[in-house]
Amino acid sequence: MNALTGVLSDLDRVLLSADDIHARVADMAKQIERDYAGKLITVVALMDGALFFVADLLRQIDLPIRLVTLGASSYHGGTQSSGQVKLQWLAGVSFTGEHVLLLDDILDTGLTLTALHERLSAEAPATLRTGVLLNKKRPRAQDSTLDYCGFEIEDEFVVGYGMDYQGRFRNLPCIGILKP
Ligand code: IMP
Ligand code: MG
Repeated sequence: MNALTGVLSDLDRVLLSADDIHARVADMAKQIERDYAGKLITVVALMDGALFFVADLLRQIDLPIRLVTLGASSYHGGTQSSGQVKLQWLAGVSFTGEHVLLLDDILDTGLTLTALHERLSAEAPATLRTGVLLNKKRPRAQDSTLDYCGFEIEDEFVVGYGMDYQGRFRNLPCIGILKP
């Protein structure tokens, strides 16, 4: 793979290399495979941030998976949550009695996952778990329970591996901090 040196030059520093990410995602896939052995998993993936994480993770889980993607946004182009979560709910998709695994790229304020968790709980799934690649160490109004977490990171704005700043940098193979 080419090193994407052009895009990388916008980074102040790399937080997690592509190798770090791939090794951890492989561990998470094994853990999920063990936990859900014999079951069909309904994965609810939040777009667009979780796109690369979910694509890499799910392709390593040797179990039947039903994938549902949902749009959720709270940043609206900035580097801080607006505090308002906009959910794009799908009509006609049922989660009742399913083993639902909600996946997102990163947990920041926790508002997005909390909103989705509440919305999905109301659909009476058989089980409902949540997983993220990154968890920012920061105080939260409501502590959302995370069942799967790739890495704990400091409270900084990150880009790459699906995560964007104003729509850019999602295609970086690593995760890093932008130049100021
Ligand atoms: P929360 O609702 O504040 O937990 O925000 C979660 C959503 O905001 C995630 O789905 C991400 O798309 C986005 N987000 C949070 N922190 C970052 C970041 O550091 N970089 C890029 N996107 C982020
Ligand atoms: Mg997101």
